[in-house]
Amino acid sequence: MEDRPYCWRMAEKSSDVVIIGAGLIGLATAWRLAADGIQVTVCDPTPGSQTSSVAAGMLAPVTEVEYGEDALLALNLASVAAWPSFAEELEALTGQSAGLNRTGTLSVAYDVDDAAALHRLADYQRRLGLDVEELSGREARKREPLLAAGVSGGVWVPGDHSVDNRQAVATLLRATELVGVNLIRQRVARVLTSGTAAVGVQLEDGQSLMADQIVAAAGPWSSQLEGIPQELRVPVRPLKGEILRLRVPEAYRPALHHTVRATARGFTVYLVPRPGGELVVGATTSELGYDTRVLAGGVFALLRDARTVLPITDELELVEAVAGLRPATPDNAPILGDSGLDGLLWATGHYRNGVLLTPITAQLIAETIRTGALPELAQPFLAARFGPAQHADARRADPGDEMPKVAT
Ligand code: GLY
Repeated sequence: MEDRPYCWRMAEKSSDVVIIGAGLIGLATAWRLAADGIQVTVCDPTPGSQTSSVAAGMLAPVTEVEYGEDALLALNLASVAAWPSFAEELEALTGQSAGLNRTGTLSVAYDVDDAAALHRLADYQRRLGLDVEELSGREARKREPLLAAGVSGGVWVPGDHSVDNRQAVATLLRATELVGVNLIRQRVARVLTSGTAAVGVQLEDGQSLMADQIVAAAGPWSSQLEGIPQELRVPVRPLKGEILRLRVPEAYRPALHHTVRATARGFTVYLVPRPGGELVVGATTSELGYDTRVLAGGVFALLRDARTVLPITDELELVEAVAGLRPATPDNAPILGDSGLDGLLWATGHYRNGVLLTPITAQLIAETIRTGALPELAQPFLAARFGPAQHADARRADPGDEMPKVAT
């Protein structure tokens, strides 16, 4: 542990809480804390513009449930339940939409192997007590008439929804402004420590911000934060995903009424409709480090699978192709709470569920700061669940990559 350098030993406290990263998680946490009268500063060179703006915004705890991830399912379900009141509060404060679309989700299968996998998953979902209804291909097409004739079956999931994540970012930025959050458009160069405590952050221009509490919400860059001892770093790695935004011509709207998640010849694709005529198609998954280039193969795969289940895809305008980085962890679950340094909490590693987990993460971290105790729901997600080897590996998540200019 380093000694306190003289230059900031005498520095005064800048705010009660400093949050590293202005993605959805950082912004929502800042809003919750500042609304309770806590002085909050958030640092990010490009607020809300990374993973939070690339994502498709699915709220899919049931549709995307994975075998054996029961603790994560409980957290995901708590957060999908929290979204409506979270959105209402934001909307009441700002007068802007938070982007929540409560449309339900339809999972569909294309060929017989896809259908077998979907029905196995539906069995598991039912055993977990989740609300799912199995459908024939014809019943699935009744809900979504433009689905391909070859769609062989489906599962209706009424409680899985979506959020226009870009709208949510814009509304959270406005909300944080209204409750007096201090947003500094700079990268955090390092976390400042004294003994076994985090006491502030140093910005890239050299300025130090001292605070009682630091929250690290730097998404896929969380493992790269300087100043945190090697053994306490988190094993978060960037997992690239390419996403397309298509525009549905007026004549074909709505191309879809619900979010559709499809398995087509063994490949998964999801299609998320927005009320304004946008259709978001995602997402690829590649272990390529901090690489956000959109590759032709990624665009090809998404369009191939989308048009297999929704042939009208060919008639839609391709408006945007973009790649983002999911903050992935070894067990696919987030890292919440104690870091091993007094005064530093993690709110990171949300992997495929960042938009979904925004309300519950903000609530849990704000409660931890107010009460000094991590709520029970968050206990399975402490960084301490990872062994020392995984911590030590965090820095090597992407050898050769430097901390990028953008924090989250
Ligand atoms: N939750 C969707 C994705 O990560 O692609």
